[in-house]
Amino acid sequence: MQYDPRSDKCPLPYSPFKSCTVPRPIGWLSTISRDGVPNLAPYSQWQNLTFDPPMVMFAANQYSSGKRKHTVINAEETGWFVWNMATYELREAVNLSAMEVAADVDEFVHAGVTATSCVDAPGPRVTESPAQFECKYLSTHRLRGSSEHGWVDVVYGEVVRIHVKDEVITPEGKLDIPSIRPLARLGYYDYTSVTETFEMKIPGPNGMTNVGLEGKQ
Ligand SMILES: Cc1cc2nc3c(=O)[nH]c(=O)nc-3n(C[C@H](O)[C@H](O)[C@H](O)COP(=O)(O)O)c2cc1C
Repeated sequence: MQYDPRSDKCPLPYSPFKSCTVPRPIGWLSTISRDGVPNLAPYSQWQNLTFDPPMVMFAANQYSSGKRKHTVINAEETGWFVWNMATYELREAVNLSAMEVAADVDEFVHAGVTATSCVDAPGPRVTESPAQFECKYLSTHRLRGSSEHGWVDVVYGEVVRIHVKDEVITPEGKLDIPSIRPLARLGYYDYTSVTETFEMKIPGPNGMTNVGLEGKQ
């Protein structure tokens, strides 16, 4: 089947779009409001953009009421947001933090996680999460939606501090992904977590093609 999402009715009962780009890593983002209230929310429209220097982005659809997401407002007002690695073990807290609550609710308390101070960012990070990035806000690119809910704030940030818990680092200095079990979004209400990995190297003599892939940069 094929269809034009701009004009055709989707031929399936559920849109296949979000089930094609899978699995999507989760940007479990913590921020603090101008009034000092900690905020936490998951964003699966989240990605690494580049690595030298490391930059990231997330895309926050505004609420159907037309209000923009608290994460975006806080990032713009304080100049910072923090990525916390979401894991299978933390899945219920991730889900709780997605609830739409008032701006004066401490979402660390709401989600049942504890807060650790950041080094550079003013807001907290999730203590229970195995890795965090402190991100300096760069800019917001606002894209037009076809509905109120469709309007989206694409937020860019530079990672200026990386925290990794010692217990998830292997003897050779890599992240032990199968033991971390990073949580990822599929389509619908479905999720997965990474429990196995395999290695592949680009064939041929090491040249420019391998720069960045081996993870030394
Ligand atoms: C796993 C998961 C992924 C989500 N990804 C997104 C996303 O990429 N963009 C978005 O706008 N909302 C996303 N949501 C919904 C937000 O987390 C939710 O609207 C939240 O209340 C936003 O909080 P905030 O206003 O405090 O930023 C996601 C929810 C879940 C459970």
